[in-house]
Amino acid sequence: MSFPKGFLWGGATAANQIEGGYLEGRKGDSISDHISGGSRSIKRRFTRVIEADTFYPSHEAVDFYHHYKEDIRLFAEMGFKAFRMSITWSRIFPKGIEDEPNEAGLKFYDDIFDECLKHGIEPIVTLMHFDMPYFLLDHYQGFCSREVVRHFVRYAETIFKRYKNKVKYWITFNEINFACLPSGNLEVLGIYDDRTTDYTDPYDDLNKRYQALHHVLIASAEAVNAAHKINPDNKVGCMIAHVTLYPRTCSPKDMIKVQDLDHLFNDFCGDVQVFGTYPAYMKNYYKAHNIEINIEENDMDILKEGCVDYYTFSYYMSNCVSAEGDYETSAGNLLGGVKNPYLKNSEWGWQVDPIGLRYTLNKLNDRYGIPLMIVENGLGAVDELTADRKIHDEYRISYLKDHIKQMSKAVDDGVNLIGYTMWSPIDLISSSTGEMKKRYGLIYINKNDDGMGDYSRIKKDSFYWYKKCIESNGEIL
Ligand code: BG6
Repeated sequence: MSFPKGFLWGGATAANQIEGGYLEGRKGDSISDHISGGSRSIKRRFTRVIEADTFYPSHEAVDFYHHYKEDIRLFAEMGFKAFRMSITWSRIFPKGIEDEPNEAGLKFYDDIFDECLKHGIEPIVTLMHFDMPYFLLDHYQGFCSREVVRHFVRYAETIFKRYKNKVKYWITFNEINFACLPSGNLEVLGIYDDRTTDYTDPYDDLNKRYQALHHVLIASAEAVNAAHKINPDNKVGCMIAHVTLYPRTCSPKDMIKVQDLDHLFNDFCGDVQVFGTYPAYMKNYYKAHNIEINIEENDMDILKEGCVDYYTFSYYMSNCVSAEGDYETSAGNLLGGVKNPYLKNSEWGWQVDPIGLRYTLNKLNDRYGIPLMIVENGLGAVDELTADRKIHDEYRISYLKDHIKQMSKAVDDGVNLIGYTMWSPIDLISSSTGEMKKRYGLIYINKNDDGMGDYSRIKKDSFYWYKKCIESNGEIL
């Protein structure tokens, strides 16, 4: 067991899933404010106008906006060294296009960072986690327009300058590689089309999507450059949703299919952000699919200059891939696959694969050779609040324990892993289903999908377990 000294143990969240405080502090409307609640069987809807009789979970979320002091105090009690969170762009620039930022929004995050630092917790801050000012979607079709790159860079610079002495670890775009699937249109790229009726399966135009993704990659690289100029101590990371893929059989055809999907989904964005250039396999993919995107003259220089300092990723599951044959399928956070007979599923159908994490860490370490951080990993499950207000979540403890054991083996293998922020220290709104019922937290939030609850915070059994884990630097699991 050998986690390095100074290892960043902590937890991760996203603003639109915890904050609430809809339109408070002169915040503008965000994309997430327009996404309804749902469930595993009822898809979340995106509505252009806010409908009076529709429930939008992000409007209240778990009210971190008013509970942040209490929550950060609880994180400190567990001994957190790091807290990953995101900034709501529309709190800083309500429409995204203003020349001057909104002071009330800036002050809100000042207070959060001060609270973290008071407790010795390092903030790890994502600039855009599945959200942007609604106006940018409505007016520009999000990152389809190069103009939005300019607006994003102004937002990023404002943030880097304001929090220069408070934040050192940054992440540009959460799970940027979801843009490589049709489902990434809305949340990563801000593209919404009138033909779209479904939030996770929107109308898809390959040319438009990859043009927008190019703009996001440029925006990310420009932000990396700006961060380094503003403070050379800044460390900026990419963030990839890593869904580890195995061939369903040892057929070479299955293996080629794994390679293709790895390139397209798991590798492409990270390769651009770490190496600063478009990989050959992607150029061929564009050719094969008649994708023609507009690349401006100095775009390649921007990418080359804006390489990230560290590589972060989320890891929840692995999936199998099959070139032929009719197999049972498995679910996932947007990318499903073929069921693996050796693995068990979570209640939401995600395949639990701790050993896959060790494999993935080694793979990424070999490919990139820069520090790695796992910034999301956890179990969404139904928790039962007992009459004496306890939550005995041994299933969550066992999920986290099994993954941390494999992380430690990967560190022993020689992987340069610098941190682990599990998802999530507090219960929050599920991104794919909009539910509260799918709980990830070490801290229970007394709020249900029907809106009932008083938002009180209750420590689960996993809270005490993680505290010991951190205290012992991962020795006691
Ligand atoms: C990741 C996202 O894909 O998975 C998070 O970055 C999300 O925002 C997490 O919450 C878990 O997914 P879900 O759909 O269970 O909330």
